[in-house]
Amino acid sequence: MFQQKLRPRRMRISPAMRDMVRETTLSVKDFVYPIFVVPGTNVREEIPSMPGCYHLSVDNAVELAKELASLGIPSVEVFGLPEYKDADGSSAWDMTSPVQRAEAAIKKEVPELMIVGDVCLCQYTTHGHCGHLEGHYVDNDKTLALLQKVAVSQAEAGADIIAPSDMMDGRVAAIRAALDDKGFQNTSIMSYAVKYASGYYGPFRDAADSAPQFGDRRQYQMDPANRREALKEVDLDIAEGADIIMVKPALTYLDIVREVRDRIHFPVATYNVSGEYAMVKAAAANGWIDEKRIVLETLTCMKRAGADIIITYHAIDAAKWLKG
Ligand code: PBG
Ligand code: ZN
Repeated sequence: MFQQKLRPRRMRISPAMRDMVRETTLSVKDFVYPIFVVPGTNVREEIPSMPGCYHLSVDNAVELAKELASLGIPSVEVFGLPEYKDADGSSAWDMTSPVQRAEAAIKKEVPELMIVGDVCLCQYTTHGHCGHLEGHYVDNDKTLALLQKVAVSQAEAGADIIAPSDMMDGRVAAIRAALDDKGFQNTSIMSYAVKYASGYYGPFRDAADSAPQFGDRRQYQMDPANRREALKEVDLDIAEGADIIMVKPALTYLDIVREVRDRIHFPVATYNVSGEYAMVKAAAANGWIDEKRIVLETLTCMKRAGADIIITYHAIDAAKWLKG
């Protein structure tokens, strides 16, 4: 009789064996949960295209932060909708804006939670672009001065990690210099180093009221077709002083996550963005997929691809499922 010596199935024979040889373990410690803070008090309104995610006033954001901490989720990323918008997005560095107030309140009430402050201008500008406009052109270097103010205001409010998502050239160096100048040497920078111009941001732009009022973001965000350019962006941001490198979106860019992970000696984050979340929620709501299974598989695969940190709207559900 034919003697089969090589039998990979031996390693899959039982749950205990599969546990023993599993190469990747998803943990609640991997997660960052993004929230959207809005003006007012006692606001908790579900975002239609992101079921399970809410617009929260600062008081309710603090309550949610407590829940995150109690679930063992280590970090929250704060996005905001301001009281007012203008051409340069000045409410983005207003210490009385929802983001800064939420960061200060969470830092005070839930000090163990790490706060990631998203730094950009598109939620705050009347035109919805991520910087200072000259005609229809987003002026890179004038935008840097604005981003410095946003970063410093969030560090002052209590952000532990500054996460610039604007895609201007040189912004990591500019933000690092501004933080150091104000004494925030220990505030880290998680750079959205590789951020593609993606259709997967659609639900977020509804939620954050941040869609560009004309054109699109292709002059500053990356072409989805490009891989070498991603590595160039990573090299530049590391040279400028980034502490953590992010690839965004996640699912259709896991090849880039792997390549970046193999190339650098810095933590790698990936952003499981709003459109990726919305697709799963929609299919689950229709009964077409098993939500728990799909979410845990998806997040595990992001980790297997090389992500150390996963920013995801699924974090609360996943934390509960991982608990068992
Ligand atoms: C913009 C920003 C975007 C997201 C967060 N900040 C993308 C964009 O509008 O271009 C997307 C996050 C998501 O889709 O979940 N600075
Ligand atoms: Zn932006």
